[in-house]
Amino acid sequence: MSASTRDPQVITCKAAVAWGPGEALVLEEVEVDPPKPMEIRIKVVCTSLCRSDITQWESKAHTLLFPRIFGHEASGIVESIGEGVTDFKEGDHVLTLFTGECMTCKHCTSGKSNMCQVLGLERRGVMHSDQKTRFSIKGKPIYHYCAVSSFSEYTVVHSGCAVKICPSAPLEKICLLSCGVAAGLGAAWNVANISEGSNVVIFGLGTVGLSVAQGAKLRGASRIIGVDTNPEKYKKGKAFGITEFINPADCNEPVQEVIKRITDGGADYSFECIGDTGMITTALQSCCDGWGMTVTLGVPKVKPEITAHYALLLSGRTLRGSLFGGWKPKSDLPSLVDMYLKNEIQIDEFITHNLQFEEINEAFNLMREGKCLRCVIHVTK
Ligand SMILES: NC(=O)c1ccc[n+]([C@@H]2O[C@H](COP(=O)([O-])OP(=O)(O)OC[C@H]3O[C@@H](n4cnc5c(N)ncnc54)[C@H](O)[C@@H]3O)[C@@H](O)[C@H]2O)c1
Ligand SMILES: [Zn+2]
Ligand SMILES: [Zn+2]
Repeated sequence: MSASTRDPQVITCKAAVAWGPGEALVLEEVEVDPPKPMEIRIKVVCTSLCRSDITQWESKAHTLLFPRIFGHEASGIVESIGEGVTDFKEGDHVLTLFTGECMTCKHCTSGKSNMCQVLGLERRGVMHSDQKTRFSIKGKPIYHYCAVSSFSEYTVVHSGCAVKICPSAPLEKICLLSCGVAAGLGAAWNVANISEGSNVVIFGLGTVGLSVAQGAKLRGASRIIGVDTNPEKYKKGKAFGITEFINPADCNEPVQEVIKRITDGGADYSFECIGDTGMITTALQSCCDGWGMTVTLGVPKVKPEITAHYALLLSGRTLRGSLFGGWKPKSDLPSLVDMYLKNEIQIDEFITHNLQFEEINEAFNLMREGKCLRCVIHVTK
């Protein structure tokens, strides 16, 4: 055990701080506290930008949680461990988890859920254990995001909010499994449990929607219809299994009518991967009576309520939500990393841009302009 692990000190390093909603990030010198009991401090190697970071950064609903360090899709190396941590050691390669797994609560032991009651999605900008931050600038606290905050050279996370992974896996690629790619694959496999030969419709062909497509293709779906307002997405989507493409802007009738017509009454499965609750209704209307299932993954920017005619459900459809694809993050992610290493799932094709940490605002611009799938930001060497 090295000196740093026995007695970790405050680290001063660079972090990309959002000072206010929608304001460009500023690279600042921040102080990162040593890990408290059951926590680990990670040197972030790579982080990719997910739409959820942008949605929360733009939102004016939580102005008190600024200044804030965003980022939740990341890979890194354990720098030091806090008291009581037994499942990590300095030098371990890890993925961060925006929703953790304590292994002991009702949900973690249920075998039915990944909604950990102890380390679930953190919305208050602090650490789960003591409701405090581990980042500061000259004594002023800087808030966390999802208890991960990977837009920093070093970050502290609960040991239940990270998973140790095979050291030979390339950290600059597998960071995408920390959120978007795993969320989409899991929605297709764990939540919908897509069966061979089925018809699938996916609303929104970003990394999340195209990961659903990849999952559907690997399950042998016969038709995978992609719906997106960005015409560029068809070309990219074909590589992940999209067989047909609909741009709602090109249709003379509502998109659900087009889908019902070409699928003889509606698809077997539909997925909302945009973050628009109106599209959840459209997705429900696009799947068939009897067994049609809509899975909703998107995180809405506005209007959180869903509205739908009750008859859509009375006629046998199911609406299911999906956080992190139903994966138990600590238990299940290592197997996804192995699948990638065996070339059983694609990740590299989602990475459209590699950027240096100083260029992080460019990643925000590219995603807002619809010009990227995932930008990987190389935070430290
Ligand atoms: N449930 C989860 O665990 C989970 C995990 C990661 C991301 N998300 C959420 O999933 C959603 C997708 O994330 P992403 O990173 O793939 O985002 P993204 O921005 O890369 O992709 C969204 C896609 O939707 C398209 N789109 C936007 N408005 C549309 C409309 N009205 N009609 C049709 N297409 C439209 C865009 O052109 C884009 O291709 C976001 O809401 C994100 O917050 C959820
Ligand atoms: Zn995400
Ligand atoms: Zn738990």
